[in-house]
Amino acid sequence: MDSKKQPREVLDSIRQQKLDAGLQPFKLVKYFSFSSLGVILIFTLFLSWIISNHARRVMLEQSEEYSLLLAENINQQVFRRFVLPAVVRYGGIALSNPEQFENLDRIVRGVIQGLKIDSVTIYDSRVNIISYSTVADLVGKKDVGGVEYKKSLEGDANSKFIYSGSVFSLLSVTPAVSCQLRTYIPFRQVRDEGESGGVVMGVIEIVKDLSKEYANIIKLQARIILVSAVVMAVLFLVLRTIVSRAGKIMEAKALERLKLEETLNQTERLAHLGTMVATVSHEIKSPLGIVRSTAEILEKRIQKVAPGNEHLARIIVDEAMRLNRIVVEFLDFARPQKMHLEKGNINEIAEKVLAFISPMLKEQQIILTTVLALDLPAIAIDRDQLYRALLNILLNAVQAMEGGGSLQITTQYQDDKRRIAILIRDSGAGMTEEKAAQIFEPFFTDKNKGTGLGLAITRNIIESHGGEILVESMPQEGTCFTICLPAG
Ligand SMILES: Nc1ncnc2c1ncn2[C@@H]1O[C@H](COP(=O)(O)OP(=O)(O)OP(=O)(O)O)[C@@H](O)[C@H]1O
Ligand SMILES: [Mg+2]
Repeated sequence: MDSKKQPREVLDSIRQQKLDAGLQPFKLVKYFSFSSLGVILIFTLFLSWIISNHARRVMLEQSEEYSLLLAENINQQVFRRFVLPAVVRYGGIALSNPEQFENLDRIVRGVIQGLKIDSVTIYDSRVNIISYSTVADLVGKKDVGGVEYKKSLEGDANSKFIYSGSVFSLLSVTPAVSCQLRTYIPFRQVRDEGESGGVVMGVIEIVKDLSKEYANIIKLQARIILVSAVVMAVLFLVLRTIVSRAGKIMEAKALERLKLEETLNQTERLAHLGTMVATVSHEIKSPLGIVRSTAEILEKRIQKVAPGNEHLARIIVDEAMRLNRIVVEFLDFARPQKMHLEKGNINEIAEKVLAFISPMLKEQQIILTTVLALDLPAIAIDRDQLYRALLNILLNAVQAMEGGGSLQITTQYQDDKRRIAILIRDSGAGMTEEKAAQIFEPFFTDKNKGTGLGLAITRNIIESHGGEILVESMPQEGTCFTICLPAG
């Protein structure tokens, strides 16, 4: 920890750490749900890849089977309808003879007519040269057969799948999708029974264009990816909303718990402090009494021995009395007061306090107005304590109107809120908003002889009656204290 950090900052960071620790389990759930969403997305993409691969394989197998059957058919037709007649008629096969070539071409085209075949090519068995092709330009080309040609010569029918393009081709950024199936079978002599099992005379190559089918498969793949992406996005948004709402609720709860914990700690600390103050004040009280009575004796003796100097002893007596008053107030504030509740009328207490302070009001030329409600219900109160609370407020008001002024006491029964309100309004010095916010703090005072405990004690009394005390004030205009007490 940085030793230069302000204590406040340190406290804040400890608070934050505690809060974070409280939210830890929720964060784990959050990470788990988001990562499982990621795993599902990856799994879906993988699934789409498997599905489209499978579809492609099925398409290939079917097309290959079809091409092999077709090639077999071409083999039969060409051998029966071209090879055999040519041997009989011309004594041998010579495709350089246009008549023979045309004959073969007619037969081949007849077989593939109406079928989706791009080209049929026949290679020679002796040299790797194209003897015949439905694509005229290819005829005569050498060494274009490749491995497939050689395999076929050895008797193995085989296929080659040439394709290009992917899902990105749909975005038309990359070249369009294309797919071709090239099937090679050995061109054999056909026996009488129809079986083609004789000598290999060449190789038949069938080229079938599968671009459309392949494009369909890619579209299917794109659809799967798109649908899963949309589903994932919706799931993500829903999850995020739930998580953020739950996060806010959890955070608020954690904060509330932390605040409660802090309040409890503070209350505990204050209780300890209170006990300490009460003990110390109590211990001070007895020696203070001795000091006071000794000073009084001393005053009398000085009067006799050294007349004119007795005021020195008087100072000790006065200060001891002042100190005693402070100690008594300390004790009152620190020690929890026992409540003696009885049904009583607030107006009675108000009148009693006013009677007590009326000489002061006269002396300071303060005009008093009382508006006491007649319909006040009797409520459970501790008379002595409420008397004290009202006296504290009234004394403050008198002290705030040194040059005279007006004081107004109002009591009212607020039926709708089922409470009694006591308003004490003075036209004294008033307070700034900042000051008004601090006056209930213990030991807050701006008076030379004040302890600053008057309003703190008052608030304690009101709150222990289940009520509340509020203040409104304007500098130079006056102050109004409102006490609200529950009535039933
Ligand atoms: N009616 C009022 N008008 C203006 N200021 C007030 C009024 N009532 C309270 N205050 C301010 O609130 C402060 C706190 O009042 P509080 O009664 O708690 O202590 P105090 O009067 O200073 O001392 P004591 O313990 O003797 O009552 C006062 O010092 C004063 O500045
Ligand atoms: Mg006071």
